[in-house]
Amino acid sequence: MKITVIGAGNVGATTAQILAEKEFGDIVLLDVIEGMPQGKALDLIQAGPIYNFHCNIHGTNVYEDTAKSDIVIITSGLPRKPGMSRDALLKVNSEIVKSVVEQVIPKSPDAIIIVVSNPLDAMTYVAYKVSKFPGERVMGMAGVLDSSRLRTFIAMELNVSVENVQTFVLGGHGDTMVSLARYTTVAGIPVTELIPKDKLDAIVRRTRDGGAEIVSLLKTGSAFYAPAASIVEMVDAIVKDKKKILPCTVLCNGEYGFDDIFIGLPVKLGKKGVEQIIEIKLNEEEFDALQKSADAVKKLCQGISF
Ligand code: NAI
Ligand code: 2OP
Repeated sequence: MKITVIGAGNVGATTAQILAEKEFGDIVLLDVIEGMPQGKALDLIQAGPIYNFHCNIHGTNVYEDTAKSDIVIITSGLPRKPGMSRDALLKVNSEIVKSVVEQVIPKSPDAIIIVVSNPLDAMTYVAYKVSKFPGERVMGMAGVLDSSRLRTFIAMELNVSVENVQTFVLGGHGDTMVSLARYTTVAGIPVTELIPKDKLDAIVRRTRDGGAEIVSLLKTGSAFYAPAASIVEMVDAIVKDKKKILPCTVLCNGEYGFDDIFIGLPVKLGKKGVEQIIEIKLNEEEFDALQKSADAVKKLCQGISF
């Protein structure tokens, strides 16, 4: 496998580190800043003898080095500042994502693209439109991260292992994300039987604001450890053809009644990319929340100039 990570900042470099530790294949780390991806790649290779991993990690500023990638992960773009919404990044990051996709796609026409740059749903739509790839080979990472945050907060509340908590967060990666308490279990027990509604509502709110909470603590930059881990979980499902069901930002062609929009849904991930969108039953309140989220994503995408 050859995996290219575009953007060697916090998320990109941390992703490369985890990918290297897991020895998924050769890694190319590309950034516009001269010397920076080369320096990080060299530093990372030198951790190999200690961690016992062996793989080629190449830092670069040129797209020739990304040729024939199997997976391209796009993390290039500005992160938000305290008080800023992800949507405020639309203009600047859509130009960056467009230019990246235009350059990377001719070199790797068969790749699977995983978009990370924010605002996530809109940037994934940009990557899809510019690449003209089939929808199953373009996806965004957000649901795995948001679900992981929800799992963490539930485990903290109940003082149980995070491994016991299963859930998924759907919809757009923003204020309208949809946490599904009804589909959340702790060792198979519905969470609604374990946590009272007011506490669960507060956990759902904290999940929704989870990215902003970290931005306000860091002061510069946004979260990167859990985002990188979430990207690698998606890569793992693809590389090992696991057919794993994960919440990912994917193209809808009529699923859930949505069309020509990228939004977070449960999907089956395997070597072909998005192999199936799973249509779960939603009650009226859940569907209304998903519809509201889809409307917000659609409105945001109308602000992109192609
Ligand atoms: P960062 O600022 O640490 O790194 C971004 C890197 O992109 C920088 O090194 C920059 O030089 C590079 N870059 C900018 N323009 C480029 C171009 N045209 N070509 C190649 N590289 C370019 O930011 P960080 O923390 O790594 O976040 C990256 C993006 O991911 C942000 O937009 C952030 O909001 C988003 N993000 C999304 C998450 C999600 O759940 N989808 C989670 C975390 C971050
Ligand atoms: C997050 O949720 C910045 O979108 C990123 O942390």
